[in-house]
Amino acid sequence: MGAADDIPRVEVLGPQHDRSGFESGVEPLDRYFQTQAGQDARKKMAALFVLVLQDGSIAGYYTLSSTAVRLPELPAATVRKLPRYPLIPATLLGRLAVDQRYQGRGYGRFLLADALYRAVRSEIASFAVIVDAKDESAKRFYERESFLPFPDQPLKLFRPMTDIVKLFE
Ligand SMILES: CC(C)(COP(=O)(O)OP(=O)(O)OC[C@H]1O[C@@H](n2cnc3c(N)ncnc32)[C@H](O)[C@@H]1OP(=O)(O)O)[C@@H](O)C(=O)NCCC(=O)NCCS
Repeated sequence: MGAADDIPRVEVLGPQHDRSGFESGVEPLDRYFQTQAGQDARKKMAALFVLVLQDGSIAGYYTLSSTAVRLPELPAATVRKLPRYPLIPATLLGRLAVDQRYQGRGYGRFLLADALYRAVRSEIASFAVIVDAKDESAKRFYERESFLPFPDQPLKLFRPMTDIVKLFE
């Protein structure tokens, strides 16, 4: 990332943001952002956040929404520490993408940290942040950030909120 004066800002997606040229190289993530994201935000299906550079261009985006996990989906070691509720509340980081022009500069990690910080600050309880990695490479990106795979759904990962909280203490 650049000097302090060009630190990018994370903003809530609004009509002022030009989404048309965004290209992460993963077509479903780009199509979603260009055609669906505005509607999802208006209908409260997902909260959408964009990374805006000094010149106004959008370098990345992510979505956050509420979700729930069935207890048997989680690893046994995690289940042992949880009450026997049928559904466990969680936060879904549904999508995260950085424009190809800006990949490899730390923006992905910056956006992920921003998402985790929002999840921690929420007053709505949530046991973990969950991500659906698009492929093995995305999975490795999350594993480097201490996410753990679900035992029977290898591209779905989670990081317990008790662990995330420690990041920001
Ligand atoms: C995955 C993605 C979000 C990473 O963003 P980025 O800005 O390129 O990543 P960063 O520069 O912040 O890199 C953070 C760390 O992750 C690593 N990393 C980045 N992309 C990676 C990948 N695809 N696989 C494994 N590790 C990766 C980097 O090497 C870096 O680690 P280091 O600092 O130890 O070298 C971005 O490449 C992207 O949008 N890809 C296409 C869409 C996608 O796959 N999204 C994933 C969610 S489904």
